[in-house]
Amino acid sequence: MTDANRIPVHVGIVMDGNGRWARARGLPRLAGHNAGMLAMKEIVKRAASLGVRHLTVYAFSTENWKRAAEEVSGIFNLLVVYVDRELAELNANNVKVRILGDYGKLPANAVERLKRSIETTANNDGMRFNIALNYGSRDEITRGLRSIAEDALAGRLALSELDEALISDRLYTAGMPDPDLIIRTGGERRLSNFLLWQSAYSEFVFSDAYWPDFSPREFEKALEEYRGRERRFGDAPPAGQNNPSPKGRVE
Ligand code: IPE
Ligand code: IPE
Ligand code: MG
Repeated sequence: MTDANRIPVHVGIVMDGNGRWARARGLPRLAGHNAGMLAMKEIVKRAASLGVRHLTVYAFSTENWKRAAEEVSGIFNLLVVYVDRELAELNANNVKVRILGDYGKLPANAVERLKRSIETTANNDGMRFNIALNYGSRDEITRGLRSIAEDALAGRLALSELDEALISDRLYTAGMPDPDLIIRTGGERRLSNFLLWQSAYSEFVFSDAYWPDFSPREFEKALEEYRGRERRFGDAPPAGQNNPSPKGRVE
């Protein structure tokens, strides 16, 4: 079933391509991350105004520590700049910030800004803006399973209680609906350790645009592509529709 007005409740974005955007212009990688931050700002606004309830952006993975120290610290500095510039407006727009990932490992000034963002927006009930930072889905699942095992060993949990809902509850995304749509920019077609458990039935839209070039208009186009998808969750197609519509097979 497709619905012309259907807006995904939860959109995840793998914001990829900052480095290549910079290289194409003969600029340092950090210039790409700076441009990426500006792009993110615009997408957050557009997502909120379109009525997306949860926006989850992949900003720094557990594997991104492999990069040069200068790039890593530059990315965290940009995060501080972003919060300093944007927190008041995010709050005014009723956006609620949440961080997915072990962000306590970030530099102290970044941790402080993140905590401030969470606290300042704690009572907002508009769009949930989830920033995945030092996030890796395997790490997330491992931590979740460890907490379950600890509870089981301590006698707080019977094995019969272990089900899919319990695992979901022990992830950073606890309480959030699974992503309906995951967008990846930058031309690569992979998840790179983003929301592995949660994306079991997500729709994927891939854009060749580098993240800094991904405009609100491109975002709306991705939502349009999503609207044409037929989601079946393992069920048979509805009666009278034996073949998935061609639109259901975009990409
Ligand atoms: C995504 O852009 C941002 C982060 C991973 C922090 P990249 O920095 O991965 O850009 P490319 O893929 O090298 O172009
Ligand atoms: C994924 O991009 C992580 C983020 C966007 C934060 P990467 O650039 O790290 O992914 P790979 O290395 O190309 O798979
Ligand atoms: Mg990349």
